[in-house]
Amino acid sequence: MKTPAMPMIERVLFSEDEIRERVKVVAAEISERYKDGHLKLVGVLKGSVFFMTALARELTIPIKMDFLAISSFGDHSSAPGVVRISKDLDESIEGEDVLLVEDIVDTGFTARYLMQHLSGRGPNSIAICSMLDRTTRRIVPMQIDFRCFEIPDRFVIGCGLDYNQLYRNLNFIAVLKPDKA
Ligand code: IMP
Ligand code: MG
Repeated sequence: MKTPAMPMIERVLFSEDEIRERVKVVAAEISERYKDGHLKLVGVLKGSVFFMTALARELTIPIKMDFLAISSFGDHSSAPGVVRISKDLDESIEGEDVLLVEDIVDTGFTARYLMQHLSGRGPNSIAICSMLDRTTRRIVPMQIDFRCFEIPDRFVIGCGLDYNQLYRNLNFIAVLKPDKA
């Protein structure tokens, strides 16, 4: 989606090229860390899909991929609430080196829930990789093992991130105009 006329955008935070370059660097770190392991990327639908495929293509080690989907009661504008798995993984993660792949870690509620839940399924190891990290809004202390960018406290769209399910397919990351959010 490359249309230049986009009235909902305040400014572009990260261009397609900047994202690609940063993903390469993070993919190299992950490839090095897991070179002797059995890495399985676990993506959180739908937001992580664009990042996860970009990341996977830059990895230089063999990997497996699986997805889960969640429903969170609460969003960016309201109090974060309960997280529920609405589509589970297809395969077991027992004995595997799991890397949870997220689009953004904001308050940290979603990531903490998923990390705790998946840890209980007997993986050999579990870590988290997030495209974006907004530490200023963190409520739950969460260490992000691999991340591409830290972002300011503004609602962002693109590269998988949506506003009312729109704009996931922008190939850059942009700040949504306040009157649209
Ligand atoms: P957390 O549980 O507060 O960390 O929320 C994380 C989830 O909220 C992300 O996986 C996104 O789906 C959503 N989210 C948080 N901030 C943004 C944003 O700026 N744009 C789009 N979605 C967001
Ligand atoms: Mg998400």
